[in-house]
Amino acid sequence: MHRSKLPNEGITIFSEMSALARRINAINLGQGFPDFTPDQTVIKHLREAFLHSTHQYAPMKGNEKLRKLLADKINFFQNTKLNEENITITAGATQAIFCAITSFIHPEDEVIILDPGYDSYRPSVLFNSGVPVAVPSQPPLFRPDFDRIKDAITDKTKIIIVNTPNNPGTHVWTRQDWENLADILSRREDIIVLSDEVYEHIVFDGKKHVSVLSIDGLKERAIAVYSFGKTFHATGWKIGYAVASNRIIHEFDKIHQYVVYAVNNVMQEGLASYLEHVKQHNGFEVLDQSDFFQKKRDFLYEALSKTRLKPIKPEGTYFMLADYSELSDKPDMEFAIELAHKIGVVTIPLSPLFINQPKELRMIRLCFAKKDETLEQAVAKLSQL
Ligand SMILES: Cc1ncc(COP(=O)(O)O)c(C=O)c1O
Repeated sequence: MHRSKLPNEGITIFSEMSALARRINAINLGQGFPDFTPDQTVIKHLREAFLHSTHQYAPMKGNEKLRKLLADKINFFQNTKLNEENITITAGATQAIFCAITSFIHPEDEVIILDPGYDSYRPSVLFNSGVPVAVPSQPPLFRPDFDRIKDAITDKTKIIIVNTPNNPGTHVWTRQDWENLADILSRREDIIVLSDEVYEHIVFDGKKHVSVLSIDGLKERAIAVYSFGKTFHATGWKIGYAVASNRIIHEFDKIHQYVVYAVNNVMQEGLASYLEHVKQHNGFEVLDQSDFFQKKRDFLYEALSKTRLKPIKPEGTYFMLADYSELSDKPDMEFAIELAHKIGVVTIPLSPLFINQPKELRMIRLCFAKKDETLEQAVAKLSQL
């Protein structure tokens, strides 16, 4: 018979909980997607592109105008000196993550993954016969533990994956965090830093996103990945980009060209036209969504603080963790399913987002990228707790 490449893997917890929400007609604060539409100006530029631009293949690395504008955007926010050659457009951040890992991981190479984390990292390492090395982070916001990271590095370590702003931890890496990592890696220039920065524009309380691309000692061997889906409230678009030094992106492109060759050209044309408009008329600052989401965060946080769920205030992303130990001692999967049936709100149990699942964890994750009325309805139900 055929031998499975991922014998222990089922469907993801996100698919499972979204299916449950549909089945029992519950409010879905589980999977991370907005229930509102993108800005109509973006849609207008996309519509124009569908009517008037080419419907044939884009260049392998992506539309040149779009890549130039993205370089301008990153240079604006991060004070970097990138150009279009440093950027490749991908089918979402997930494809960029897969290609980045595939570009550098040979059998038995080790990849450090901070636990808990986004669920595609581990299987992408396994597809390449690499070894995922999970390093526990520090609850409740799951900040990086640099002593543990240092101890996990071996001669076989080839990549460390960082995610800031962090899902599900919701902490944001400071410049000091990056400098700690640069210090640890100072004698290991062979280790690539894969930095997942898809929530770059959602950082709260006046803090700013710091990209690996701005860090001396790391930027030369970094690959940062981004997602238009997150930036424009449109996760269904599945379009993103990878950014790296010439040496690194050249290796990345060799894999990318045989995974998709090039990404949806009309979308690229429309996004380039929109970003050009933004650059000329509003400035790249309008891409920042921190204030928009901070209001939603504060609303949910204050409402949950009045219940027996203990919410943990996020520093970034559109997720919030909550400790339910005052309400129940059941494992999180059981608790989340019971909660959905009992009050009609679907959340995500946290333990499936770990490689090494802690036994005593009593936490769920809620997504607040929802219309105010959806959040109000959810809060009315959660207030029963
Ligand atoms: C941390 C993180 N990285 C990557 C992604 C995937 O981005 P995309 O939809 O562009 O593949 C997500 C989506 O939830 C995410 O939370």
